[in-house]
Amino acid sequence: MSKRKPRTGRSVPPKARTAKPARKAWSGRFREQTNRAVESFTSSLSFDQRLYGYDIQGSIAHCKALELADVLPHRDASAIIRGLGEVRAEIDAGRFPFAPEDEDIHMAIERRLIELIGPVGGKLHTGRSRNDQVALDIRMYLRDALGSVLGKVKRFQRALLDQARRHLDVVMPGYTHLQRAQPVLFAHHLLAYVEMLERDKGRMRDALPRLDVMPLGSGALAGTNFLVDRSYVARLLGFTAVTENSLDAVSDRDFAAEVLAALSILMMHLSRLSEELVLWSSQEFHFVELPDGFCTGSSMMPQKKNPDVPELVRGKTGRVYGHLLALLTTLKGLPLSYNRDLQEDKEALFDALDTVTASVDVYTELIKGLTVQRPAMARAASSGYVLATELADYLVVKGIPFRQAHETVGRLVRACLDRKRDLRELTLADLRTFSDRFEKDALDVLTVEGAIERKAQIGGTARKKVEARIKVLEKMLA
Ligand code: ARG
Repeated sequence: MSKRKPRTGRSVPPKARTAKPARKAWSGRFREQTNRAVESFTSSLSFDQRLYGYDIQGSIAHCKALELADVLPHRDASAIIRGLGEVRAEIDAGRFPFAPEDEDIHMAIERRLIELIGPVGGKLHTGRSRNDQVALDIRMYLRDALGSVLGKVKRFQRALLDQARRHLDVVMPGYTHLQRAQPVLFAHHLLAYVEMLERDKGRMRDALPRLDVMPLGSGALAGTNFLVDRSYVARLLGFTAVTENSLDAVSDRDFAAEVLAALSILMMHLSRLSEELVLWSSQEFHFVELPDGFCTGSSMMPQKKNPDVPELVRGKTGRVYGHLLALLTTLKGLPLSYNRDLQEDKEALFDALDTVTASVDVYTELIKGLTVQRPAMARAASSGYVLATELADYLVVKGIPFRQAHETVGRLVRACLDRKRDLRELTLADLRTFSDRFEKDALDVLTVEGAIERKAQIGGTARKKVEARIKVLEKMLA
């Protein structure tokens, strides 16, 4: 065993710290140094650094509450708050001396605080544990991160709305089972995604009140002996409530699972759009042209223009689902209260938020640059017997039960298929061989425009309805 005296944080210059093992804040009951491999295995510093701003904010609030509770004299509290400001400035400026033995961002900040202001810095952790501290930091981080994603989703919705407005007269075939079904407005199709994203925002907003609960004061698990005013801390940090059970407060990550679930559903929507963009930009469909700047070529085939962005968004969806499943699996076997397993929450959350942010951002720009191939869409929208339902509905208006009308038009389509003819090539005489209820006006229902205009109820694809919904959504997103 080394005879070297353990070094104090204060006497060790930053460079030397990275070379030699240093004393830990919790090293009192240990005889041996932490194993090097364990040090790096247990460290969360590489990823929880991004919490530093929240950690320092939380520490300042905690320090003020300690002063208010007469646990810290004013002199000590101001020294600590000043020191925390210096630590923040160092990290902001990228000159903070991180050390591998810091273990996590909470320890790094406290270690540096004591280096900067001396042993009085050691009073900060009175009545606090990293367990309530980290719960606080993640809640604060997620609150801000969700706010940012909400804003980005809104921008994306606006890009979709702009394209919808610009292409109000473009028709396309609507599909079920990826078979041409009935004609719809391209704008109606785009608005379907705006509605999905509206629900995604709703789910994120729903998660906010459960994030907005302040856990500090729960200590390691049981609460603390110092009667800090938790409501005061909550007010300082902009929370509307405080947690009501200390055991729950340090072990609860429901809010993280909720956020990951909301992000997973959002990614699922982006992935469905991806699938459509990949199909639509293929030569088989040729409904849209993706902007060149958002595609890549082939290293071998000179003619290729590949839809990599939609493919990657589709691919990254699995990654976000993975984070949700990983967190739920981490949580399912944990006894109360804090367990180190919980440290695994952060990479899942951070990567999911980074992935969603990047995907939404790149899609906003891609959608802005999308070129719509009107003729190809129109051609597809008027073939494939997509007007068959119009003809069946015509017979219904003439008094035929729908089931019977469906059967009649089905036979008619079958006959057209056999003779390789389209519905619109039929004459009235042709129609009347299938039903004597067909009259001259039957031919009038066989237009794509008419089919669209008749879908005039709320939620239908009639231009008037789509235009009205665009207006409502534009107002909502303004
Ligand atoms: N790095 C830890 C985490 O992210 C902080 C809490 C550690 N607490 C403890 N008692 N080891 O969860």
